Amino acid sequence: MNEIKIPSHIAIIMDGNGRWAKERGLNRTAGHEEGASTVRKITTYCANIGVKYLTLYAFSTENWERPKLEVEFLMKLLEKYLKKELEVYIKNNIKFKAIGDLSRFSKSLQKTISDTEKKTSVCTGLTQVLALNYGSKNEIIRAIKKLNELNLEVTEENLESCLDTAGMNDVDVLIRTSGEVRLSNYLLWQNAYAEMFFTKTYWPDFSETELNEILSEFSKRERRFGGI
Ligand code: FPP
Repeated sequence: MNEIKIPSHIAIIMDGNGRWAKERGLNRTAGHEEGASTVRKITTYCANIGVKYLTLYAFSTENWERPKLEVEFLMKLLEKYLKKELEVYIKNNIKFKAIGDLSRFSKSLQKTISDTEKKTSVCTGLTQVLALNYGSKNEIIRAIKKLNELNLEVTEENLESCLDTAGMNDVDVLIRTSGEVRLSNYLLWQNAYAEMFFTKTYWPDFSETELNEILSEFSKRERRFGGI
């Protein structure tokens, strides 16, 4: 059997919460609650196998278009999750980081996010990155503005240093659940050489076993980064 290569950076588009709930005759919010449990399960697993960064698409710049009640529910769920999760982060040596334009969130959620970042800043294992009010085009525009403000030359290195993901390596493995095959404005720069995996499984049903299957397939792929 081939040895499993552990990627340094896994990024996931967590899709299918709504359909998972609908199939069970439940409200969409039940899908998001179950999705939050999967976030905990997959994060802990990635921390245990030695992944360095796990970047999860939790709320996009386009998700504000959803019904008001669903948006409100997601905001409350996030805040509840982060507060409850602190213990799990510390116990598993997980650092927490948020990317995206956080200024649109309530003061209370912004405070919970920055408190969680501060309190986990001493952790040295996996960094769980939540993409919140995140859109890649928005991130790149903000980075270019920052570059201009700092009067920096336009180079790949300088632009990268102004992205929300500054200091992180690019994505090695990109996973999207629920059968959709698109990037949806997610980490367009950072996915330049990512190996991509699309599964029909809805996010609430995504498991450690399926992640292992993906990692096994990843280990067999030859990455040439444009070379031969
Ligand atoms: C996509 O499913 C999921 C989201 C837009 C939000 C992701 C949120 C979670 C996984 C739960 C909360 C996260 C944390 C970190 C606590 P969808 O609603 O688009 O599903 P559908 O396409 O089947 O309707």
